[in-house]
Parts: sequence; structure tokens; C-alpha cells
Amino acid sequence: MDRRTFLALSAAGIGWPSLALAAVPGPYDWNAAPPMDDRARYIDWMVTNRGENPDFLGQRFDRFLALIAHSDIWNDRNKRAFLLTPRERFVTAANLSRTYQVHYLDIGFGVTITGPHSVARMTNTIDPQMGERVLEIGTGSGYQSAYLSNLTDQVFSIEIVQKLYERTGGIYDALIAEGYTEYAAITRKNDDGYYGWADHAPFDKIIVTCGIDHVPQPLLQQLKPNGVMVIPVGPPGAQHVLKVVKQESADGKFTVARSDIYHGSIVNFVPLTKLENGKIVGTHFN
Ligand SMILES: C[S@@+](CC[C@H](N)C(=O)[O-])C[C@H]1O[C@@H](n2cnc3c(N)ncnc32)[C@H](O)[C@@H]1O
Repeated sequence: MDRRTFLALSAAGIGWPSLALAAVPGPYDWNAAPPMDDRARYIDWMVTNRGENPDFLGQRFDRFLALIAHSDIWNDRNKRAFLLTPRERFVTAANLSRTYQVHYLDIGFGVTITGPHSVARMTNTIDPQMGERVLEIGTGSGYQSAYLSNLTDQVFSIEIVQKLYERTGGIYDALIAEGYTEYAAITRKNDDGYYGWADHAPFDKIIVTCGIDHVPQPLLQQLKPNGVMVIPVGPPGAQHVLKVVKQESADGKFTVARSDIYHGSIVNFVPLTKLENGKIVGTHFN
């Protein structure tokens, strides 16, 4: 189907034969940003520049307005990253119609894709700048890393479940082949992220997308002075999402400042599990 026919069907509200309209029409442009103040102009810009499905684009824009209303996203670079990331490409087929709902969604292997509000708030809290090295613990669906790759070209991500790591690799390969070349800058490995990634440390920012009852020492060590981490900390199923800033004083000593990005509300994350001899055996909870 050509683009004109597709758009005509879209305008008539007729169902979508595929998620993508076609390959991404042009090369990735760090300076290009879609309109943020008008739903119709946003959809039009995205169809023209990114070749995406207008139905999902409308849903994405509606969720975008809810993120702003709930103060989960607050600067233009992060808004752009949300608006450019096709969440529908990272959920399972069974959950496609729920892609832009508020909740986290099952992605198999006993884990989830984090809800859009938590992704937005956690990402805007660390606010990666272009060129900063960002480490994600828990690649999962790949959505969070894809989102990050619209903020910096230095994204590192670790996933503990080997089969999920492989499936997400296939999703990235397909998207890169379609023209989402920004995802080629995501460096990944299948491993236990509790120990960070010493080969690529130190990191400017770290985002942990699974819950634990303490801040892992290796992650603190691999954070640069004045670096920022977000991490869900608390007992199983009941975490507070903390912003952890590693501060260096004039005498070279480090202190750690913590604050709760939800001001006391509890958020539920899947546990940060432990790998031993290539097998997942329990968690890293103390
Ligand atoms: C909430 S889910 C996925 C969120 C993910 N960021 C996304 O966008 O879909 C958390 C992920 O952390 C992974 N995980 C749990 N413990 C881990 C560990 N020790 N190292 C690396 N990944 C881990 C889980 O397998 C799961 O995929």
C-alpha cells in the first residue's frame, strides 16, 4: 500500500494493516523535534518524518498530555524523547491495544514493561545530556533504552534474562533496519546488572528499572562524581523510587544525597534478581 492510500484509510478511520507506515523516511536528526502543542500537527509531522501509524501517534500524544498534567515530564528534550519513541514496537502483540495505557504491561518471562509515567519521571529525573554515558539495569522490552537513545548517544543496558535479551536484540535489529538508526548506539549485554558494567564505567547517569532493598555498592562506585542514579528501593513489591546523587566534597570525600521522586508514594517493580553460574537464583535483597 502506498503512503497516500494509507493516509486516506487513516483519515477514514479504517484499521491499520501494519504498525509502521513504511521505513523511516529520512536519517535521524538530533535537531529535529515534532510539534508539541497540537495533536494533529504532531501526527502529521510524525507520519511525514518517521513513517509511523497515525492511530498510535494519537494515543501517544494523549498520553504525552497526561504526563505533563501529572508533572512526570518537564523539559523539552525529554518531551521530544517520549514523542519520538514508538512504545507500540516494544509491547507484546497481546497488549498492543493497551500500549499507551497508564499501567505497566506483561512482556513474558515474568517481567514487565514499565508504565509510561514512571519511565518519563525516572528519565527526566536523571535528564541525560547529549554525550553522557547512561547505564540502564534491566533492558526488558528495550523501550527505556530506545527512549534514552533520543537523549544521548551513549546508552548501555544490561538484561539478566538471556531469552529476553535475545528477543529484544531481534526487535532492535528490525527497527534499525527500518531506519531507527539511533538504536544502533545502544550497547547491551546479558548479565547480572547488580555489578554494573566496569568496562564502560564511570557513568554520568544510572537508571535501575527493577526493585531492590538497598543501593548496590558497585553501581555507586561506577557513578561519576556528581552523577545521578534513579533506583526503586524497598522491600519486595513496595519500593520508593529514589534519586541518588553522588557528591564529592572539596577534600575529595564522597557523600550520597537521596530523595524520593514520588514524595512517599510506593511504586511496585519486579525484583532485581541474581545470576549464579549462568542461572537466575533468587534476588539481591539483603
Ligand atoms: C520492569 S522490567 C523492564 C523494564 C525495562 N526498562 C523496559 O523498558 O521494558 C525490569 C527488568 O529488569 C530485569 N532484571 C532483573 N534483575 C536484573 C539484574 N540483576 N540485572 C539485569 N537485569 C535485571 C528483568 O529481567 C526485567 O527485564
